[in-house]
Amino acid sequence: MALPSKVRIVEVGPRDGLQNEKQDVPTATKVELIRRLGDAGLKSIEATAFVSPRWVPQMADAAEVMATIERREGVAYPVLVPNMKGFEAALAAGAKEIAVFGAASETFSQKNINCSIAESLERFRPVVAAAKDADIRVRGYVSCVLGCPYQGEVKPTAVAEVAWALFDMGCYEVSLGDTIGSGTPEATKAMIEAAARRVPLKMLAGHYHDTYGMAVANIYASLEVGLSVFDAAIGGLGGCPYAAGASGNVATEDVVWLLQGLGLSTGIDLDKLVEAAAWISQQLGREPQSKVARAHIARKAALAA
Ligand code: HMG
Ligand code: MG
Repeated sequence: MALPSKVRIVEVGPRDGLQNEKQDVPTATKVELIRRLGDAGLKSIEATAFVSPRWVPQMADAAEVMATIERREGVAYPVLVPNMKGFEAALAAGAKEIAVFGAASETFSQKNINCSIAESLERFRPVVAAAKDADIRVRGYVSCVLGCPYQGEVKPTAVAEVAWALFDMGCYEVSLGDTIGSGTPEATKAMIEAAARRVPLKMLAGHYHDTYGMAVANIYASLEVGLSVFDAAIGGLGGCPYAAGASGNVATEDVVWLLQGLGLSTGIDLDKLVEAAAWISQQLGREPQSKVARAHIARKAALAA
């Protein structure tokens, strides 16, 4: 199959990237990160999560983040919502897009959102309906699509089942999350093909963590089977609080480099993206994690010397 001609990137750094950060990240830093990401040309920036602050303390300032960010024309700032309480808070904060998040693994569902897969779908149903009434778009996530930290193997048919349920209840797109980053290209293709038998391919997205260094390869494999939307986190930030040892999402700058190399336009300014990666890494007291950011910074320094 020919590669898709257009690819969309959903930036999840401010949420997925920071949710597991142990140090206190000031709200102003999150807001400035979101500004820089918009400035680099990202059109969808997942800003925060309206979840229980006892479960994920780093996202406790969700309302403040939403109240403070500069909202650019043409840019979406989706937020994670696990239940009606989160939806009402997101609505009050002026969110125009939300994401509900389920899993293809029973144990992960229990650990992450304290209910079974079936219960989670019943919990999301009124959220999606209320969002529709309020003219709010809803994205869906399925976690553990290529393996579970507790249960191990996850069958592509189990992924497809949950993806379909989310699509059927009204999610405009379903993002398939390799939460622990253990997937490899052939398994990724098989999982997407199974999901695409239930949900139209153009309504699916890939959300790959890079724990085993396979995320870029998995994106390439996904492109080969026609997937054209990918989630990524600036600087490769992050991990999931309920998936110990899992590292961040694929770095946005790594994805942009890949896509540019394939001649696919992204509308994203790689220089500004790398500057944003360097900036947030410095705020967190570490070097940028991604190879592209490091290479870009080293090359610039060499040229300036
Ligand atoms: P629970 O304890 O079963 O909830 O947690 P509850 O309804 O029994 O309520 C308990 C307390 O939480 C109450 O407070 C509620 O008011 C409060 P109390 O009376 O005890 O003071 N509460 C809330 N507070 C704020 N916002 C809310 C909310 N709901 C209840 N929305 C719950 C269930 C779903 C709330 C909890 O498990 C939770 O918040 N989980 C979120 C976990 C999370 O954010 N995980 C990371 C995101 S998922 C991810 O990273 C994967 C993804 O990236 C894709 C991939 O990589 O695969 C998306
Ligand atoms: Mg994730």
